Amino acid sequence: MTSPYGLAGKAAIVTGASRGIGRAVAKALVQAGARVCVTARDPGGVSRVAEELGGVGLSGSVADPAHLWELTELTLRSFGRIDVVVNNAATNEPYGPLMDADPDRWREAFTVNVEAPLRLVQCAWRAWMGEHGGAVVNVCTEGAAHVGPNVGAYGTSKAALIHLTQQLAGELAPTVRVNSVSPGLVRTEMARFVWERAEDEVASGLPLGRIGEPEDIARAVVWLASDAAEWVTGTDLLVDGGTRVRAAYSSAAYAVHDRLRDHHLPGA
Ligand SMILES: NC(=O)c1ccc[n+]([C@@H]2O[C@H](COP(=O)([O-])OP(=O)(O)OC[C@H]3O[C@@H](n4cnc5c(N)ncnc54)[C@H](OP(=O)(O)O)[C@@H]3O)[C@@H](O)[C@H]2O)c1
Repeated sequence: MTSPYGLAGKAAIVTGASRGIGRAVAKALVQAGARVCVTARDPGGVSRVAEELGGVGLSGSVADPAHLWELTELTLRSFGRIDVVVNNAATNEPYGPLMDADPDRWREAFTVNVEAPLRLVQCAWRAWMGEHGGAVVNVCTEGAAHVGPNVGAYGTSKAALIHLTQQLAGELAPTVRVNSVSPGLVRTEMARFVWERAEDEVASGLPLGRIGEPEDIARAVVWLASDAAEWVTGTDLLVDGGTRVRAAYSSAAYAVHDRLRDHHLPGA
């Protein structure tokens, strides 16, 4: 397929690509002409998506440094290059007030959401990008810019990921561009507990009138990964339906925070 973005023949690694935003990103990259290596923990989900997209896949956790290196080697072996890394896998746990947070689970959030993206970029840099160039896109969150009920570990780790994005953008320039995309509320499994019972309420408070779909985020990721964004590095691209500017649109309470406040984990 000819690519309007200069992604034809390029190779990309997408983490957390068995469903949701990661799967949509991998699909959009393939539609733009790239070849993809996908990963997630569930082997069935990984092989389904790899097969669907004509790419390769490897199951495992991004928290495991050996898995990240194997992923890098598989991509290089399969495609002979690594042009794009999309750090999308994440956890939104531990959920709840920080005074109740188990330090081991807090550390796990940082391992998955911050340390793994750094490690995977290090792998790709050493294996290919340091010499040949490339682009990294980290998936953060609109919520990283402010506090919210029960999401302290998630928000703090994602704020760290935005800072990591900017730091790496400076350190790896001009060879590798590093940017992030920050989604608002998107219709995926991770956020099901927020949108499932409050979709109309959330949508009516948003300037653009609906919650996000994974494809909304995928288009932004593909653009940042592509040559169309060749003069863009260190930026965080909000794709949030106007969530940040909603105060000028509606005086309604923020329904997302209401849902986060009301949500209780099973057994809690
Ligand atoms: N949905 C939203 O409203 C929203 C808003 C802001 C930001 N985001 C961000 O968007 C990204 C994608 O989330 P999503 O909403 O698409 O969630 P999702 O539908 O739950 O998908 C998460 C993906 O990550 C994989 N994953 C989770 N933990 C992993 C680990 N330790 N190692 C490897 N893979 C792992 C999951 O597969 P396995 O379970 O099989 O590993 C799955 O493929 C995340 O960075 C999230 O923080 C989402």
